[in-house]
Parts: sequence; C-alpha cells; structure tokens
Amino acid sequence: MFETLKTATLDKIFVLMAEYANDAREGKIDLGVGVYKDPKGTTPIMSAVKKAEQKMLATASTKTYKGVVGNREFSSAVVDLALGTAVDKARVRCVNGAGGTGALSILMNVLARARPLGRIFISDPSWPNHWPMAELAGLTPHYHPYFDPKTRGVDFAGMMGVLDTLTSNDIVLLHGCCHNPTGASLTRAQWDAVTESLKRTGAFPLIDLAYLGFGDGLEEDAYGVRKVVANVPEAMVAFSASKNFGLYRERAGVAIAIAKDSAAADVVSSQMQNVIRATISQTPDHGAEIVRLILEDKDLRAEWEKELTEMRERMKRLRVKLADAIRQRSNSSDFDFIADHTGMFSLLGLPEAVVSKLKLEDGVYMINDSRINVAGIPEDRIGELADKMLAALR
Ligand code: LMR
Repeated sequence: MFETLKTATLDKIFVLMAEYANDAREGKIDLGVGVYKDPKGTTPIMSAVKKAEQKMLATASTKTYKGVVGNREFSSAVVDLALGTAVDKARVRCVNGAGGTGALSILMNVLARARPLGRIFISDPSWPNHWPMAELAGLTPHYHPYFDPKTRGVDFAGMMGVLDTLTSNDIVLLHGCCHNPTGASLTRAQWDAVTESLKRTGAFPLIDLAYLGFGDGLEEDAYGVRKVVANVPEAMVAFSASKNFGLYRERAGVAIAIAKDSAAADVVSSQMQNVIRATISQTPDHGAEIVRLILEDKDLRAEWEKELTEMRERMKRLRVKLADAIRQRSNSSDFDFIADHTGMFSLLGLPEAVVSKLKLEDGVYMINDSRINVAGIPEDRIGELADKMLAALR
C-alpha cells in the first residue's frame, strides 16, 4: 500500500517550530510560529481561561456527546462577539470547528459541494495552509495580488483588479483582520470598496477571522467582517479562539454560515453537520466551553478583555521599539513599516538567504518568507536583534 506514496511537503511553520525546539543554543530567538509570548518568552494560559477551567472542573457532571453542531451557546456568543448586530440571526447557522482551521475546513468542504472545483481567490501571499486546505476540500485555488514588496503595504489596486473580474461562481478568501503573513491589513475604506466589489460581482466571501482583538481592538477589528456580512446575501466566517483566548491546542473555533434566508440557512447547516459527522463526528468541547463561560460571565469577560488589551498593546510596543532600533542604527526609515503593520505578524521582505543566515549564524528564527511573529521579539534584546538583522543584510 504505502509504496505508492511520496513524501508530502510539511508546513514550513511547523517544520521551523521543530527546528527551533531542537536548537540547543542559548539566546536563540523565536519569531516563527504565531503564538503569543509574554515578556518571559512563554505562552501563558490566560487568567480568565484558568478561572473558567476551574469553574468547569467544579461544575461539569458529564462528558457525553454534545451533538454534531457542538456547543451552541459558544457559537452564539462568538457570533455576537464577531458579527454584533450586522446580520439578522435568523439567517445565521453555526457549527463548532476544531479550531479556526477546523472551522475553515468545514466551510471549504461545503463550498466545494456547492461549486465542485470552484475557484477560490487567496491573497498573495497568504497563510501557507490556505492553499492546500482549498485543494484538499476540492476547490481550485488562485492567487490575487495583495502585498506590495516596495511599500510593504497592500497593493490594493492589484487586488481590486482581480476581485472586480470575479463572478458569482467564485469565492474570495479574506483575512478578517491582522493579515497573516504580511501584517498589512485593509483599511476601513478598503473594506468598503471590497464590499462594493462583492456586491457588484456576486463573488462569495469566505472570511478567516483568526486574530480578532489582536489589531486595534475587538470592535475595531470586526469592522471588515461586519461590513461584508451586512451587505451581501451569503457569506461564511471561520472564527478561531486559538490566539485571542490563547487556546491553541484545545482547538476551539466556529464555522459560521450566513444565507439569504432561514430556509437556505438550514440547508447549509445540514451540509456543515454532514461534513463534521463524516470526518470527526463531533468537535472537541473543552476549549469551546471555556470561551462560552468567559463570554457569558460579566467578570470573566472583563478580565479576558483586559488581558487581550495588554497582549495587543505589548505587540504594538514591540513593533514601535524594533522599528525605532533599526532606524537609529541604519539611519533609514526602511523598516518603519513594522510599526504601521497590525496584528501578530510583519513580512520584513528579507531575501531568503538573509533569513537563513540569521537562523544558522545567529539563532534568530523567522519563517523563510521573512515573516516575523512580533510577540516573539525579546523586549530586553531589541537592540541586539536589530544589530543582527542589519549585519545579516550587509
Ligand atoms: C501561524 O500562522 O503561525 C499560526 O496560525 C499557527 C499555524 O497554525 O500556522
């Protein structure tokens, strides 16, 4: 059987994570995988999460099945958080996903049933898992321009040049906020223009919302997704609680479908449930229940929002400090864009040879396209990091 198989390409983010773990050098710096890190360089369990877990431990009385749609109260709290009042809930159906990726996979599978081998347009570049996930689901991925390597900002004219040519058979995969890997995110005016384009062409928006609250704030970051869903007849949103609740390994996410009316929404819901049952049968509930407890409890929610704000502000501060350190040392504004980007990542635009040199000679790990996780920047060693980057570039 296995003799017919070839070695598959593994995702570069997790390959790098393993390389970093195996590097015995003291002082190595991890700017790779997208997990939040505190000033000690650890990824702590948020205190609101700990309290919710303690509450669960004290009160839970069963581990029996929840049913294929999963934890409905979790989904409903997430819809309120992400979509607010942007859309009539009668048109919304949800199932839990095993993390944001699980949610996205369910949605892509349903879309592939609606449009077998249908075209899905993905930003160039995008999170490296988007393309293989689309292929695995039975869609046909294509790139649309997104990043301008000269300005390190969004090539919005290039993006719209493709989006405006799409048809109602096409799908557009949008990053809801905090673009991964570039850090160059759409402005409000750009979201407005994308929404107008979707209305004109009828192309279907699939929104990956993995970093809500990591950019400018929970409400601010929800602008784009709310704008789109409020203005189109059909859309889907994959919500992840991995980053904003720090629940990475618990796999908590929600697949949200918005249909033109309640009857159509029921059909989509049956398809989402059918995909879950035929793949993993039920989604994990531990992380989902934690998020539900936090979002439904006034005090826990306030505590979570405070922690999330601290995380966001720390990432912003690290951006500014790294940009400043590079500017002071190089006398140039070439890396000022780091402070302007939003969310967890910035694509630095370094040649792959420089990225490799930084890893091999200095123990500085970033993804080979030069994406850095800004939360991994060691605040007390920013000068040293800037020196290393500039030396590797010379
Ligand atoms: C990342 O982009 O580093 C994170 O989203 C982790 C992952 O699953 O790739």
